[in-house]
Amino acid sequence: SAHHQFLHDMPKCEHHLHIEGSLSPTLLSSLAAKNSISLPDSSVDPSFASPTALEQRYENFTSLDDFLHYYFIGMSVLLHASDFESLAYEYFTRAHADGVHHAEIFFDPQAHTSRGVSYGVVVEGLVAAQKKAEKNFGISSKLILCFLRHLPASHAGETYTEAEALGHFSDGTVVGIGLDSSEVGFPPEIFREVYDAAGKTTLRRTAHAGEEGDHTYISRALDLCNTERIDHGIRLVDNEELLKRVASEKILVTMCPLSNVRLRCVTKVADLPVRKFLDEGVRFSINSDDPAYFGGYILDNYCAVQEAFKLSLVDWRFIAVAAIEGSWCDEERKKTLL
Ligand code: HPA
Ligand code: ZN
Repeated sequence: SAHHQFLHDMPKCEHHLHIEGSLSPTLLSSLAAKNSISLPDSSVDPSFASPTALEQRYENFTSLDDFLHYYFIGMSVLLHASDFESLAYEYFTRAHADGVHHAEIFFDPQAHTSRGVSYGVVVEGLVAAQKKAEKNFGISSKLILCFLRHLPASHAGETYTEAEALGHFSDGTVVGIGLDSSEVGFPPEIFREVYDAAGKTTLRRTAHAGEEGDHTYISRALDLCNTERIDHGIRLVDNEELLKRVASEKILVTMCPLSNVRLRCVTKVADLPVRKFLDEGVRFSINSDDPAYFGGYILDNYCAVQEAFKLSLVDWRFIAVAAIEGSWCDEERKKTLL
């Protein structure tokens, strides 16, 4: 894809990145060998014959659930704190090369605790990589704990309690909570209890909404879970009143262009509401979601938007400022990003 030097040089913040979605087929297969994890037999699913076959399968996802099947199998190779550290440090290295200065990283603890990997082990590895990335690259980062919406709300509640008991909410290790996995049929208000609990603390709140689900998932996240951000949010275009509200309340929408194309939420990047959001003053950032699965890291997403929309420098300035102002870092750090 076309490379735009000014987009590379622009200081970027990433707000929508699932760390488990940065697991490349190469790292996946080396960790599977190291940890003696058996992947599905290639006679059952030929995609697992080689990293290259897997890459090719990733080009043909038919839906969010089709992707999630591979996403959950992929992360089953992560066992030890050092595996999570390698994974996250590989992401930070790549993000640094793309010009990311600040990253807010989703992780899915329930996808690990449900297969016997403790919450503490996951966070230990991620935090080690965060410290190394800060020291070696000057990247600041935060963790956002995501709940899996296909699992019962009680399981989310137990996960919340465990993170809280370890002090990760009060000590700043985890900056906020999010909601991910299959959207349709799992509206945000199912998880109202954890959002209400978070609302009584300093935790920030976001949720995936309006990716495959319709615009009511967005209003329900805002009204019933009191979220401060909307992840994806592309279905905002189907409700003019809601779109105007999101603009006036300065709610950040975290867009993921290549993800939306790969998961067939839109046919092409040009069909995304980028121009509409700019014209209506909806604040949004551009993000990679699951870069190892969706064919591109953050700069590829920026460049895809530029190829499709030919934005002006004024437009790009609006996007860059919205991303910084919408970040969940302290005001001092924001000043250095601007
Ligand atoms: N949507 C929902 N859940 C996810 C995604 C996504 O794009 N990526 C990883 N988990
Ligand atoms: Zn996502």
